[in-house]
This record gives sequence, structure tokens and C-alpha cells, in this order.
Amino acid sequence: MTEETPSLYYTDYLELDKILGSQHPKSNEQTDEMLFIIIHQAYELWFKMVIHELDHVRRIFDTDNVLDNAGEMSIAVHKLKRVVKIFEVVNRQVDILESMTPMDFLEFRNLLLPSSGFQSLQFRIIEAKLGLKMDQRYKANYYKNMRPGGFNQRDYDAITSVESEATLKSLVIQWAERTPFFDESLWREYQSQFPAEDGIQKFWSDYKQIYKNSLNGPVEMRQLEELDKVFYKEGLGEFSVGAMRAVLFIMMYRNLPIFQQPFDLLTTLIDIDEMLSQFRYKHMLMARRMIGVRMGTGGTSGAGYLEGALRQHYIFKELTEVSTFLVERSHLPELPKAVKEKTSFNA
Ligand code: HEM
Repeated sequence: MTEETPSLYYTDYLELDKILGSQHPKSNEQTDEMLFIIIHQAYELWFKMVIHELDHVRRIFDTDNVLDNAGEMSIAVHKLKRVVKIFEVVNRQVDILESMTPMDFLEFRNLLLPSSGFQSLQFRIIEAKLGLKMDQRYKANYYKNMRPGGFNQRDYDAITSVESEATLKSLVIQWAERTPFFDESLWREYQSQFPAEDGIQKFWSDYKQIYKNSLNGPVEMRQLEELDKVFYKEGLGEFSVGAMRAVLFIMMYRNLPIFQQPFDLLTTLIDIDEMLSQFRYKHMLMARRMIGVRMGTGGTSGAGYLEGALRQHYIFKELTEVSTFLVERSHLPELPKAVKEKTSFNA
């Protein structure tokens, strides 16, 4: 190797001096604080990777036309599946931390006050980029720096400014609203199975009846009103009627070639929500085991707060609710030729 082109050196490339020089326990060497620091840092590194992937996926969706056939959708789904894998792995790291006993933790816990994982900016950015808004957060006032343990102004502003960007959720909603499958021109040949209701597109008019016939007894029958609300009048949560119809249609006809990736996308978003919930759940059990019902170092009620966040911070809950409105595959209406053509790669 010549002098002009110095060879790349592992330690320099990875800037290990910085990373490995960043563990400074506040207690003495006898405690488990080194483990505590390294676990948190490892989580933060993976959070960084998750944010990187979410930004890539948001860029793909931030156009008027996601080219389903041109590989973009498959890249997006691939990246989101990677996010799921990362969470699967980091969620297991809790097991390492649990090798520290509650009394080991007490050796240095008070030295950490009032800092807390609650203040993990990257975790909040992940939630916000996916689509969680401040006013949907459990005890949103904990976030403002109204007490020690909340966010400083800079971090609080960073979280709220991410919310004002296009979130993955809002981009997916726009994408769903653009699906062209309900254009009247495609449904001219459609054979209605039931008398068509006025003002309702033939397929959706039939679907009401098919869904009604799938319900059992007066209690389940109440779901019919919900169907009306979600798919005919108001939509659900942040999803419009058009977006909800598209999601239901993709889930019902997922075997059509063109819907396979959109279906994969929707299920992967549900997986991500599930992974975040698993993070919150495992973390809550671990915190309970470490500190019982003591307050957290960040000054929240501790176990109570973590339970509230677990219950409330689902992001793609509209997608899981679609399952309420599915029917048996054998009862699905036959699609007209024009729609089949539109949903075929060979058309
Ligand atoms: C001894 C270990 C730990 C205990 C006892 C613990 C305890 C707590 C408690 C009680 C809270 C609620 C806020 C507060 O008042 O402090 C919290 C929040 C949080 N902690 Fe931990 N934690 C531990 C380790 C970790 C680790 C390793 C991470 C990894 C990054 C982490 C990330 C978080 C996050 C992201 C939140 C906010 C959760 C949410 O809002 O859903 N914690 N923690």
C-alpha cells in the first residue's frame, strides 16, 4: 500500500474510539451500571437504523404514484420487514438486562434521576414518523418539560416537528385513497347479487348484504351499523371511507397478483405495531420486576404510565379493525373482467 492511499483501518472506519469511549458509569466498578449503559446504547443504535429505514420508505410513498410494478413497493415492504426483524432482536435484549437483579439496580438507580428511557428522542421519533401524534399520546403533558424527566425544549420541538411532516400512516392513507379499482367504468359488467341500493356503487351495495348474511344473531348484527359508518359514511380514525374500502378490498382479494405486495405492506405495518407493543409490554414487565410500583426515574407513575402507553399507542389500529368486516372467501363476489384485467400484471 502506498503512502498516498492509506488503507482503511477497521477501528477508524467504525469510529470505535468514539463509540467505545462513550460508557461513563456514574457509580463504581462493582455495580451493573456498565450493562445498563451498553444495553441502552445498543437500543439507540438500532433505533437509528429503524429511523433510517422509515425515512427511505416515506420517500418512496411521498409521490403521487408508487410504482407497484417497478420495484418501489417491494423495496418499501422489504425495508419495513427489516424494521420488524430489528425489533424482534432488540426486544430480546431485555433478557440480558434481566440478569441484573432489582437490588443490583438500586445500587445506582438514584444516580440516574431524573433521566429516563422516557426521554429517548429516537424512540419518540420512530413513533412520530410512523404516525403517532402528541395529542394521541397517553398523558401527553408528561412530554412537555413541565417537571424534571420530560423533554427539553429542543427535543420536544424535534418530536412535534416530525409530526408536521408526512407520516408513514398519512402517506399510506393517501396511497390507499388513490387505488383506481372503484372507478365506475370498471364495474359496468358487474352482476349484482342483490337489488342495488340507490347511490351506492354496485359492489359495495352487494357487500353490505353479504356481510349482513355473515352475521350471527342480534349482538353481531350491531356490526352492520359499524360497517355503514366505516365503509359508507365516515371512515375510521384517520382513514377516509375511500381508504378503508381500498384496504378491505386488498385484504379480501389479496390472492390477485397485483394485491400481493399491497397486502404484504398492510400486514407488515400491523407487524410493526405489534413489535412496538411487544417492546412496551416486555419493557413494562421488566420495569415492574426491577422497581415494583415505584415511580420511574423520569417521574411518571412508572408501571401505570407504561400500561397506559401500551394500551393507547397503537398506530395502525384501523388496519386491524378491518378484520371485523371480512367474510368467508367463498362468499366474495366474482369481479368483473375489467377489474380483473386492471388487477393483473399481464393486462
Ligand atoms: C432497569 C431497567 C429499566 C427500568 C426499571 C425502566 C423503567 C422505566 C419506567 C418506569 C419508564 C416510565 C417513565 C419514567 O417515569 O421513568 C420507562 C420508560 C421508557 N423506557 Fe425504560 N426502564 C429500563 C430500561 C430501559 C431500556 C434498556 C430501554 C431501552 C431503550 C428503555 C426505554 C424506555 C422507553 C422508550 C420508555 C418510554 C416508553 C413509552 O412511552 O412507551 N428502558 N422506563
